[in-house]
Amino acid sequence: MGEPLDTFRRPLRDLRVSVTDRCNFRCVYCMPKEVFGKDFQFLPRAEILSFEEIERLVRVFVGLGVQKVRLTGGEPLVRRNIERLVEMLARVSDLDLTLTTNGSLLAGKARALRDAGLKRVTVSLDSLDDEVFKSMNDVDFPVARVLEGMDAAEAAGLAPLKVNMVVKRGLNENSILPMARYFRGTGRILRFIEYMDVGSSNGWRLDDVVSAREIVATIDRELPLEPIEKNYPGEVAERWRYRDGSGEIGVIASVTQAFCADCTRARLSADGSLYTCLFASQGHDLRGLVRGDLTDSQIADAIAAIWTSRDDRYSELRSEETAGLKKIEMSFIGG
Ligand code: GTP
Ligand code: 5AD
Ligand code: SF4
Ligand code: SF4
Repeated sequence: MGEPLDTFRRPLRDLRVSVTDRCNFRCVYCMPKEVFGKDFQFLPRAEILSFEEIERLVRVFVGLGVQKVRLTGGEPLVRRNIERLVEMLARVSDLDLTLTTNGSLLAGKARALRDAGLKRVTVSLDSLDDEVFKSMNDVDFPVARVLEGMDAAEAAGLAPLKVNMVVKRGLNENSILPMARYFRGTGRILRFIEYMDVGSSNGWRLDDVVSAREIVATIDRELPLEPIEKNYPGEVAERWRYRDGSGEIGVIASVTQAFCADCTRARLSADGSLYTCLFASQGHDLRGLVRGDLTDSQIADAIAAIWTSRDDRYSELRSEETAGLKKIEMSFIGG
């Protein structure tokens, strides 16, 4: 089996695996409490892929060209024994194996994750100010504990550490400079993410987006920046470095400067559906395939057929109409 290309000749290189649809935070841009309240029905256990099923699918994806696997959620560290999955995936091949977490449980898990074979982590943090942080994630969780998680990750060797900050107008734009000042010179790479219209529950409006241009200009006025090359084609973050040599930042401009042209990402939801775009409204059921009596090579053929007909480029097409479509929630496919 060769490596499939989609209709825009994009290969399949990255797989983002959501291991749970649950999270202990309720970020307003992702799982707003009004929608994800007490009565919200999360996936029942029987519908969630087992570690063995995930490992098998990852093995098949690697055969189709995947080199990078990122575990996501919801919050991946709330899935019990996640380090066991990491260990299983680390044995599949020499993958770039990483994880995106809100950091709340990281201090206690960093060592085990590293020992299991995880290479890096990305920690989400939207402000250093407890009040602002709370207004973003809607739970009372101290910033200091997330910072402890980052320290533990670095101490365990999960480096370089990346920090993701979603910027939402009127909520945390005043945290842009304090975050930049704090992480400059630490070797941790802070990335600012434009607030996106993922899912259908966050009430997204274009007015709430602080553009990457505006973010860079804000920082540049105090801490002069210059652009640098991407690390690899298809990298989502645009990179900038401080002119005084004190490190780099990234901006992820998926709203104002779409990067679909070289998007090589596929997403696997916790219940085993394959999504060929973050903004897809529908997935392709792979759970039925792994729970059926197909061979690995038959499953590979099925995935290759899905990828070969892929024509997604949502961010490039984003408009008033597409913003109103029913899309899959971020907490379900992990960003
Ligand atoms: P590395 O460069 O390897 O660190 O990974 P990454 O930047 O892909 O990882 P991360 O999960 O931290 O991605 C950062 C954020 O970029 C995500 O949380 C999303 O908000 C956004 N993002 C990632 N992939 C896509 C994509 O395919 N489309 C869009 N529109 N946004 C994406
Ligand atoms: N817009 C941009 N980024 C988002 N994330 C979650 N929801 C959104 C959104 N609406 C980001 C989180 C985290 C990653 C998993 O996805 O901040 O870094
Ligand atoms: Fe949880 Fe991450 Fe979504 Fe926040 S962005 S609610 S931490 S999954
Ligand atoms: Fe890829 Fe879809 Fe994101 Fe475009 S919008 S970069 S096609 S996931």
